[in-house]
Amino acid sequence: METETQPDDVGEAIRAFIKRVFDNLSGLTVSGMIYLGHELGLYRTLQDAGPLTSAEVAQRSGLHERWVREWLRGQAAAGLLEYAGDGRFVLPPIAALVLANPQSPAFVAGSFAGLPQQFNVLPRLRESFATGIGLPYDALGPEGACGVEGMLAPWFRTLLVPVALPRLDGVTAKLEAGGTVADIGCGTGVALIEMAKAYPRSQFHGYEISEHALAQAARHQQNAQVANVAFHDARTEPLPADGRFDFVTAFDCLHDMTHPAEVMRAVRRSMKPDGTWLIVDINAKPSFEENLARNPMAAMMYGFSVLTCLSSSLSQPGGAGLGTLGFSEQVAREMTAAAGFTRFTRHEFDNPVNAYYVVRP
Ligand SMILES: C[S@@+](CC[C@H](N)C(=O)[O-])C[C@H]1O[C@@H](n2cnc3c(N)ncnc32)[C@H](O)[C@@H]1O
Repeated sequence: METETQPDDVGEAIRAFIKRVFDNLSGLTVSGMIYLGHELGLYRTLQDAGPLTSAEVAQRSGLHERWVREWLRGQAAAGLLEYAGDGRFVLPPIAALVLANPQSPAFVAGSFAGLPQQFNVLPRLRESFATGIGLPYDALGPEGACGVEGMLAPWFRTLLVPVALPRLDGVTAKLEAGGTVADIGCGTGVALIEMAKAYPRSQFHGYEISEHALAQAARHQQNAQVANVAFHDARTEPLPADGRFDFVTAFDCLHDMTHPAEVMRAVRRSMKPDGTWLIVDINAKPSFEENLARNPMAAMMYGFSVLTCLSSSLSQPGGAGLGTLGFSEQVAREMTAAAGFTRFTRHEFDNPVNAYYVVRP
C-alpha cells in the first residue's frame, strides 16, 4: 500500500536536504579558516599555551584582535578549538598534533596550503567538462605544489625512513651499501631528500614534470645541503632504460599521470632484475559501488579528483583519466603485470588514505 507524502513531511525533507547542502558549505568555509590558521601561525601560537584570550593570541601573533576573535570563535564553533569560557580559547593536545606540529606524523594543516588555487581553477574546469581536457599540476601555481607537499611530507619526514623502508625486503641493505634510487613524480622532493640524508652512500634521482615542484625541490635540496640527490625534468630527461635502479618509489602520482602504463613500462626498463618498486597510492576500493558504500572520504576524494587528479590525468589528449579513486589494488596488479612485473605484495602501514604495494620484476 502506498503511503501518501504529507506537505509537512515534504517541508521537513526539503529542510533536511538544504541542511545537507549547507553542511558542505560549512566544511568549505572552515577549511578556508584552517588555511588561514596555518598560514598565519595561529595554531602554532595556541600550541601548548593554555587558554588564551583573543587579545593574547593577537598580540603573540602580531595580528589584529578583532579578526583573530572572529577566527577563534569560528574554530570553537567548528569543534577544532575548545572554548574555556571568559573569552579564552584552547588548542587541545590532540588538535595540536594535527594542526600545529609539522613534526607530528598526524599533521595535516599543511594540506590546506593549496586550497585557494584549487578553487581558483574552478572557472577553467567548466571548459574541461566541455572539451574533456584537464589542467596539469602547474595550473595550480607554486601553492599547488606546496599543498601537495603538505599532504605527504609529514609521513615522509617521520615514518618513511625509520618505519617503512626497513619493512621492504633487502632494500635498506642495498641503500646502506650504496644503491641507485629513483622517485617517479617526486613533487617537491621531500621523500627523496629524507632518504638521501639517511643513506649517504646511495644516489637519488627525482623525476617530475611540474616546474613549480622542481623549483621547490631545488630550494629544499639547497637548504638540506644534500649532494647525493639530482632532480630531472622528466619531459626532457626521461627515465634511463638501462636497468640501473635498485629501488624505485612512486608516491601518490600514478593515478595523476596522463600515460601511467607507459611510465610503468619505463620504470620496468630502468630497474635492475632484482630491484624493488614501492608504489604508494590512494587506498581506493575496486568499484564505485564499494567506494560509495565503504569509503567515508569518497565525496571529498571525487571532489579532489575533479579539482586536481582527474584533471591532471586528462591534461593531454588520450589521457588515461584514472583520477583519485581510479588506481585500486586490482588496477595496480593488472597494470604492473602488463608492464612486465611478476611479483606484487601489499603492505599495511596503518594509513586509511594510502595503500602500499611492493612490485618486483
Ligand atoms: C599528487 S603529486 C605527488 C607528488 C609527490 N610524490 C608527493 O607525494 O608529494 C603527483 C605528482 O606527479 C607528477 N606527475 C604527473 N605526471 C608525471 C609524469 N609523467 N612524470 C613525472 N611526474 C609526473 C605531478 O606533476 C605531481 O607533482
